[in-house]
Amino acid sequence: MKEVTVYELYKDEKLLEELKDSEIVLEGWVRTNRDNGSLGFIELNDGSFFKNLQLVYDNNTVNFEEVSHFSNGDAIQVRGILVLTPEAKQPFELHLIKGVILGKCQDDYPLQKKRHGFEFLRDIAHLRMRTNTFNALFRVRSTLSYAIHKFFFERDFVYVHTPIITTNDAEGAGQTFKVITDDKNPNAFFGTPSVLTVSGQLHVEPFALAFRNVYTFGPTFRAEKSNTTRHAAEFWMIEPEMAFTDLNGNMSVIEDFIKYIIKFVLEKNKEEMNFFNTFIDKDLLNRLNHVLNSKFEVMPYTKAIEYLLKAKESGHKFENNDIKWGMDLQSEHERYLTEVIVKGPMFLIDFPKEIKAFYMKLNKDNKTVAGCDLLVPGVGELVGGSQREEDYEKLKAKMEEVGNDKELYWYLDTRKYGGCVHSGFGLGFDRFLMYITGISNIRDTQPYPRTFGSIKY
Ligand code: 4AD
Ligand code: MG
Repeated sequence: MKEVTVYELYKDEKLLEELKDSEIVLEGWVRTNRDNGSLGFIELNDGSFFKNLQLVYDNNTVNFEEVSHFSNGDAIQVRGILVLTPEAKQPFELHLIKGVILGKCQDDYPLQKKRHGFEFLRDIAHLRMRTNTFNALFRVRSTLSYAIHKFFFERDFVYVHTPIITTNDAEGAGQTFKVITDDKNPNAFFGTPSVLTVSGQLHVEPFALAFRNVYTFGPTFRAEKSNTTRHAAEFWMIEPEMAFTDLNGNMSVIEDFIKYIIKFVLEKNKEEMNFFNTFIDKDLLNRLNHVLNSKFEVMPYTKAIEYLLKAKESGHKFENNDIKWGMDLQSEHERYLTEVIVKGPMFLIDFPKEIKAFYMKLNKDNKTVAGCDLLVPGVGELVGGSQREEDYEKLKAKMEEVGNDKELYWYLDTRKYGGCVHSGFGLGFDRFLMYITGISNIRDTQPYPRTFGSIKY
């Protein structure tokens, strides 16, 4: 008797052919169970696949009565005959010989057969992965993470583990979590203040200057007190860094990368993506396919301000309506540009130097820096990247101005010892997951979300 998974049955035609009309054994959880006294049906999910296996029980089942009492959530083991049903909704089903309970699910199980709201489910994060939506979501999350490594490995990038505990606020935004072991003496452990990393960029750049193309992919932490659907206190980021690559080269990698990982997920998780398209966002597959077939537009910041001013003149009201060159664009402005003007993914480039981090390359105009943010409809900023300032003197002057030249002497060293043109970017993993599934709250893309004012589990 063969033990198999539902995924194997769905994806391995030869195995299915081999096993049809024979006895197999499976383990899993009951999603639904209904019967009319002589014939019953159980939807079994065995965890290996988004789809369920239908179990049919009748007078050929040795313990009909017992099986008819299996309830939603029970862990069971089943033995039965695999029957192909090409004319039915599902391609095959299991005619049950016997089913046994492995673990009973108590009556106060919070997951009922009806559809639950996302907020309710967020409060039972330890159970929500059993629902269709979150089952699909976390499987896509896993696939996406594999696709990311695959993309970079196929291009010979070296994967670097940058530290989680660090001493510097890379972005200089002052939104770090402090790491302390002793309330009374915050520096007791390291002898110096330390924080959770907001970005691995500064630590990965020196590796680019040795390996050429590298990336880091790990958790990052930001104590931003913004209670929005797109901000998490803990999120994952992918940060590639490439030597001998300028801003255009950077954007071209970003575009290839985004298209590659979308394509990979669409192929690998067809069933899950169809589910999202049906139940979460009816335009999802259309939009993603459109992205695969379009060239990302590039718009300089200065041009963006012109568009926003024009919008304002023609009566559009932004919450922050004080549109002028030099302002830091808010998400409402970014979304207007990508949703109304471009109607698709776009790079916003060449920002005023005052609103961007110290490490960005100063352009020839001495006013703007070579940054590139990728904006997409629905989510806004997905990627932040730039060409880095490789000129030792210019970077040193900038760091002295910011006041981090002493602490980050080692970062400055890389420009002194064989520095070269290089660029990189950061893709917010959880935001990307929102984009690719149509899920509208970052809290519903993470296993156990941590956001301003909320930490459970
Ligand atoms: O634009 P950011 O701040 O860029 C950096 O950290 C650079 N050091 C990246 C680099 O060039 N290596 O952040 C990068 C991305 C954003 O575009 C966004 O997708 C995501 O990280 N992000 C967040 N995602 C969830 N919650 C938050 N609080 C986020 N803050 C940034
Ligand atoms: Mg940014």
